[in-house]
Amino acid sequence: MPVVVLLSGSGSNLQALIDSLANNQAVNLCAVISNNPNAYGLERAKAAGIDAVTLDHRQFSSREAYDHELQSVIDQFEPGLVVLAGFMRILTASFVERYHGRMLNIHPSLLPKYKGLNTHTKALQAGDAEHGLSIHFVTADLDGGPIVIQAKLAIDTTDDVNSLQQKIHHLEHRYYPQAVSWFAEKRVALKDDGVYLDQRLL
Ligand code: GRF
Repeated sequence: MPVVVLLSGSGSNLQALIDSLANNQAVNLCAVISNNPNAYGLERAKAAGIDAVTLDHRQFSSREAYDHELQSVIDQFEPGLVVLAGFMRILTASFVERYHGRMLNIHPSLLPKYKGLNTHTKALQAGDAEHGLSIHFVTADLDGGPIVIQAKLAIDTTDDVNSLQQKIHHLEHRYYPQAVSWFAEKRVALKDDGVYLDQRLL
């Protein structure tokens, strides 16, 4: 299945996808698109021989105009799945609708807790005993789409934002490739606005 990855930054999750899915026949990472021309993720894509496209949002007069162009770039690759991997843009409703059931996001919190930014700070400030990540289908509800998988860790008394970020990244790198391969192998799907999981995964 052709897979397009959207990102804005370092792309460590992209790297995990590249490394973990290299031998997975079901997944073809065919393009990486960034709104940020300086995103290191673009270099990671090029190094792996994946098409790397910059689509700078500052060149567009509106969110709608940007998303319209983004959609046409994505669609040139005819993806079965669009993967958001640190894509720091709020998407328009029509863009989200176009990829309904075939767009995944990874968010560094145990949703529905802590939507939006600064999730590690929020978990620490709340004195939470645990923290984690969520991988979910993207819907018009920001960070609120149906959840495919969550992974948890215990927060230690010694943890700070940096240590939590590292630990969460570590978990993300393990679980995002897993979720992408499940989707490509049709073991996970969005059905009637709920998540279908192959019974063998339970
Ligand atoms: C990840 O922590 C992800 O949860 C969030 O953005 C971050 C991207 O990190 N959506 P990277 O660019 O993959 O290193």
